[in-house]
Amino acid sequence: MPRPSTIAIDGPAASGKSTIGGLLAERLGYLYLDTGAMYRAVAWAAIQKGLDVSDEEAISALARTLNIEIARPAGNDGRQYTVLADGEDVTWQIRDPEVDRHVSSVSAYAGVRKALTEQQRRIARQGRVVMVGRDIGTVVIPDADLKIYLDASLEVRARRRYLEIPERGEEADYESILHDMRRRDSIDSHRQVAPLRAAEDAVRVDTNNLSIAEVLRVVEELVDGWVPGVTRDTGT
Ligand code: CDP
Repeated sequence: MPRPSTIAIDGPAASGKSTIGGLLAERLGYLYLDTGAMYRAVAWAAIQKGLDVSDEEAISALARTLNIEIARPAGNDGRQYTVLADGEDVTWQIRDPEVDRHVSSVSAYAGVRKALTEQQRRIARQGRVVMVGRDIGTVVIPDADLKIYLDASLEVRARRRYLEIPERGEEADYESILHDMRRRDSIDSHRQVAPLRAAEDAVRVDTNNLSIAEVLRVVEELVDGWVPGVTRDTGT
């Protein structure tokens, strides 16, 4: 049976795309690429180097020169993959709240997006890949075989993030998570270059009342029912 070779999963923060993308890639034996980790690596490096995050030119130059590698997980600490920035393991550092606060501003710069989009397209060209992000189906691989857009309300997503944080041994405050997520959603959706939105031919999945296992089942059905060249009914 033919299978979609390039699978794009987009959606807002905590819509479940990273978890679902990782599980789906594992089941299919495909490469999994979380493009958010690349934007986070640039934001992290900018903070480390003490760059002014409002300096578009400096941040874009950093994105062009930073060597970001996303590799199979090294270590057994629950990571989905290992992120190296100029050879340094920054897998957990890029999840820092300070990175959360700055990543959307950094990601809005055209120079940053160009540098990272080029790398992502090179990877997509090899096929057998599940790529997750905000603009995969619209900009990075608009000709992806299957496009999925995962969504949920802001409150449900903030609650999911809130429940994740103590698992990592950190303190969580629901109101501040909600506030930061609302701000990030707004920057991501309103930026000029590659804003967060569903591609017209993406299948939208409302995950508000679905568990991870249920979302995975829906997504696997889409993969199994995929027919080359046929655009699916995009309702949920
Ligand atoms: O995991 P979470 O959904 O919170 O965020 P992420 O997927 O790691 O992405 C972090 C940030 O990177 C987003 O808020 C966007 O600003 C940016 N991003 C983007 O602009 N384009 C992508 N393809 C992926 C992420």
